[in-house]
Amino acid sequence: MERRRLGTQGLEVSAIGLGCMGMSYAYGGADAAECEATLLEALERGVTLLDTAEVYGPNENERQLGRWLAGGRRDRVVLATKFGFRIDAEGRIAGLDSRPEHVRAVVDASLQRLGTDRIDLLYQHRVDPAVPIEDVVGTMAALVREGKVRYLGLSEASAATLRRAHAVHPISALQSEYSLWERGIERSVLPACRELGIGLVPYSPLGRGFLAGLTRRADEFPPGDFRRGQPRISGGNFDANLRLLAGLEDVAARVGATPAQVALAWLLWQGPDIVPIPGTTRRARLRENLAALDVQLPACELYQLEQLFAPGSVAGERYSPAGLATIDRGPG
Ligand SMILES: NC(=O)c1ccc[n+]([C@@H]2O[C@H](COP(=O)([O-])OP(=O)(O)OC[C@H]3O[C@@H](n4cnc5c(N)ncnc54)[C@H](OP(=O)(O)O)[C@@H]3O)[C@@H](O)[C@H]2O)c1
Repeated sequence: MERRRLGTQGLEVSAIGLGCMGMSYAYGGADAAECEATLLEALERGVTLLDTAEVYGPNENERQLGRWLAGGRRDRVVLATKFGFRIDAEGRIAGLDSRPEHVRAVVDASLQRLGTDRIDLLYQHRVDPAVPIEDVVGTMAALVREGKVRYLGLSEASAATLRRAHAVHPISALQSEYSLWERGIERSVLPACRELGIGLVPYSPLGRGFLAGLTRRADEFPPGDFRRGQPRISGGNFDANLRLLAGLEDVAARVGATPAQVALAWLLWQGPDIVPIPGTTRRARLRENLAALDVQLPACELYQLEQLFAPGSVAGERYSPAGLATIDRGPG
């Protein structure tokens, strides 16, 4: 499989990674045996980048990966995890927390759950306005010096935060939502990444399934599924956004691919510094998604996609107001 560099510090990963969140969080129950088989097939097909976080579960996603890695697989993967939330005794998210002592405690706990002595790529999951980013990255840099962490990343950080963070210790990757229907980072964040040599890891590259043809309204998802609260698939927004999906399906049919493959091929085409991490819990979808590497998008189809997903074309916000409040928008 094609490999790509994230940042300029030497981190090299498969051109497509695997988002593991859905294996035990956010999207309802997944079949554990099929998840394991999916991880194994990913490894066999050359996927190296596995993405998890403390908050997925919480904790359970890291434990699940740790159990799977224990079978002699640790050294074959690039393990990425994240800290940044305060999780209460009942396992609920109770705010952001990137205080240095908390970061240290979370990283030690993550290492234990993952059954490893090092995290290859450690991200701050959300910028914590209560803790200067210099202090957060300073703590992360100390963890690098101690050998507990290899490379640093941020998630959903603004261009201004990226610059401040990168001045303390090189940041290798930014993980932010980026897809055909979520292009907010193109204005200032992606240019800052390129100026600083920071790689981009687009999360939810399939629009949490919608761009892959998962046409369920928010209220059709079972209680506990994150998508129940998603504005873009609620009410009239859902109907409006179906038109985008229909256009994407037309493009896919013309290039002999699936909508998911076109959505991923479009991201891969944005630059060699981009490594999407589609999430799946099933082997068949893993295969489909990895085959996006073979999809060529001719100029006319790229133009068609630009027209279809032009600014203002997507109905609804990508998060609920509470979710949007955690996004670092930078000054101004
Ligand atoms: N940094 C952050 O704040 C943040 C936020 C969200 C996610 N993430 C990370 O990014 C990863 C990916 O994002 P995501 O899982 O939210 O969204 P996604 O990759 O856009 O979509 C995942 C959803 O699409 C379905 N799917 C995957 N491939 C498909 C295909 N070929 N055809 C039809 N359906 C398909 C999956 O279901 P099946 O499992 O049934 O295939 C799942 O429901 C996560 O796993 C997580 O590691 C990070």
